[in-house]
Amino acid sequence: MSKLITRSVPAHALPLLDRFRRVRRQTEALADPLSPEDQTVQSMPDASPTKWHLAHTTWFFETFLLKPQLPTYRPFDPAYEYLFNSYYEAVGPRHPRPQRGLITRPGVDEVLAYRRHVTEAMAELIDSNRSNSTDLIELGLHHEQQHQELILMDIKHALSLNPLFPAYAAERTPANEGAPLGWVDFEGGLIETGHAGPGSGGGFAFDNEGPRHRSWVDPFALATRLVTSGEYQAFIDDGGYSRPEFWLSAGWDVVKQRDWQAPLYWHEDGVFTLAGLRPRRAEEPVCHVSFYEAAAYAKWAGKRLPREEEWELAATDVTLGGNSNMLDDGHLHPAPAAGEGLVQMIGDVWEWTASPYVAYPGFREPPGAIGEYNGKFMANQMVLRGGCAATPRDHIRATYRNFFPPDARWMFGGIRLAEDLR
Ligand SMILES: [Fe+2]
Repeated sequence: MSKLITRSVPAHALPLLDRFRRVRRQTEALADPLSPEDQTVQSMPDASPTKWHLAHTTWFFETFLLKPQLPTYRPFDPAYEYLFNSYYEAVGPRHPRPQRGLITRPGVDEVLAYRRHVTEAMAELIDSNRSNSTDLIELGLHHEQQHQELILMDIKHALSLNPLFPAYAAERTPANEGAPLGWVDFEGGLIETGHAGPGSGGGFAFDNEGPRHRSWVDPFALATRLVTSGEYQAFIDDGGYSRPEFWLSAGWDVVKQRDWQAPLYWHEDGVFTLAGLRPRRAEEPVCHVSFYEAAAYAKWAGKRLPREEEWELAATDVTLGGNSNMLDDGHLHPAPAAGEGLVQMIGDVWEWTASPYVAYPGFREPPGAIGEYNGKFMANQMVLRGGCAATPRDHIRATYRNFFPPDARWMFGGIRLAEDLR
């Protein structure tokens, strides 16, 4: 995957207004290579048109900040409250998700004018220091960054269904490919994971990343890198998609119903990417597999998927340099040294974990409509960790919990193996 979003200055180091304008511009830059027709199409109920993302991220600031907090604010168009609400029951009724592609009006130009209207009003709100809701503005920015990735996921799906396989952007040189597969051992024990909250000095986090809490982890090993396309091809060549013994029952049902025979976007010898259709590289991480496929591959390989607390323990060691997650019982595991330990942990492909998406001990949803952001989706989904090349760099954290249903494949999801050491 190409690195589509880069920064020279860490965004978290900028004043809030600069960061706000930067995130807004980045969203518009992602839409820039797309025609109005590209931006209007909806390729499946799960995916939204680019134009809808541009408007909905704007609706978020208008609904949760401008209307309640800026007395001089006048809505750009009262109908947008209905058109661009995603799932907030407390805000009111909304346009059905599967029909977002039918909103041919307002057009792209009008949606961009809506964005300018709200961006300038938000700049006034931030500049006036009137808002006592810095946390809510931060949430709006991280919400918009989530949608930046969704724009890329969704347009990739739409373009993949075009028989001309058009490219969205040129691909950049891949990093971290070709490393041999190794294993890093972890002793485990009583560990602490999760985000301590925005006031802890650890920066922004979504509510579902906390609170910090303890878990017992038995000794385990984590693969040093992601499963590659070549390795996944070996699973296919060994009858992976025709042998039920590798599959969870629900996964096997899906394989048969949808006639899955390879990851999403695989063609004969090629793979569809945001840079168009190109040959597959055996050493690139396999991507666009469902949880069911990841679990089946792991079983075929004689391994398993990591649990999310194991992944976070390992990732915290990678990003912070060691042992910060271990409780002080005088018995610390060795931290893998950078370069000879784990690679591709952050920002390559999202890694499916074996963990269902549920609340951490002590989790409380915030009051009001914002409480609908994460908590109400805690059923029938699995957690992914680590971010992908389409995730803005300053939007990835070791504690970040992404989540999708186990049969979803259009996110940039891949596989890292784990094994028990006992
Ligand atoms: Fe949203």
